[in-house]
Amino acid sequence: MVESIDQIRAAALKEIDTATTVDAVQDINTRYLGRKGLMTQALRAVSQLPADDRPAAGRKANEVKQAIAAACLAALERIERDGADQSAGIDVSLPGRKTAPGSRHPITLITTRICDIFTRMGFEVVEGPEVESDYYNFEALNIPKDHPARDMQDTFYVSDDIVLRTHTSPTQPRVMEKRQPPVRIIAPGKVYRCDSDITHTPMFHQVEGLLVDENVSFGDLKGTLTSFVHQMFDTQTRVRFRPSFFPFTEPSAEVDILCVICRGKGCRVCSQTGWLEILGSGMVHPAVLENVGYDTARYTGFAFGMGVERIAMLKYGIDDIRRYYENDIRFLRQF
Ligand code: DAH
Repeated sequence: MVESIDQIRAAALKEIDTATTVDAVQDINTRYLGRKGLMTQALRAVSQLPADDRPAAGRKANEVKQAIAAACLAALERIERDGADQSAGIDVSLPGRKTAPGSRHPITLITTRICDIFTRMGFEVVEGPEVESDYYNFEALNIPKDHPARDMQDTFYVSDDIVLRTHTSPTQPRVMEKRQPPVRIIAPGKVYRCDSDITHTPMFHQVEGLLVDENVSFGDLKGTLTSFVHQMFDTQTRVRFRPSFFPFTEPSAEVDILCVICRGKGCRVCSQTGWLEILGSGMVHPAVLENVGYDTARYTGFAFGMGVERIAMLKYGIDDIRRYYENDIRFLRQF
């Protein structure tokens, strides 16, 4: 009896030692320790022994039972640690799992493209804060407190004199305060207005441009922006400068391009006008130059500001501005 229990122990431990899967260990556990298992049977046999032999044999059988149970547990831990459970479904014939690479957002692509074009023309990229003072967002740009232009801008106020910038134009006085002409900068970034429909989102992107030097004329503005349009769209794209008004420029002009969809015939996208507005511009108002201490007898400049979403819409034929911010992968992976 005692001998056969030792044999059972030896056989069990050997099997446990070579088991490599959770299932195999569980099978061993059942065969030795289960209700009809070998050790269960052995324990039952103990009760048939002569009374004098029973205590020793019983103790021995219990010891072996515990040893087998402990060995099973240890084996399970070993298998888990090694990750060697081959039954857990490693199918070497399956194709590997790909990590899907991301792609640049269309707004990033167009912003980069705009900056590249102006960088090649000698402009330097700068950035300004999105949380801006009333002074830089309005006052320094010749938009005093009671000016009607403030109503047009649907401003988010953080406090009485702190706003979320409504345009990238505050980078103009910020840069000019710190430098003397010549100044040639573009400033991309996020801007905020309390407005939301298919052509407006409360946050959108602009790129601001500013050039101040001696002898800068409206002809320089026209040449620079025409060249920009030809590089951004194509050299066949016609450009129109239309008189407009901004408090920080005089004279001011809005720049239209011949509709990229209908080429001037008139369609839904251009509201049958044949033209699409793409940016605001003008000669920097002398009051803006005076605010930063520039000598207005010596220096003149031009400035412009464009909406990135709008340019991307025209470039890629996107019809709803909200697509940019829904993060629908089917949309994003097209760029
Ligand atoms: N800041 C204007 C806007 O958000 C755009 C603009 C117009 C910027 C004319 C300029 C400019 O620099 O000269 O509507």
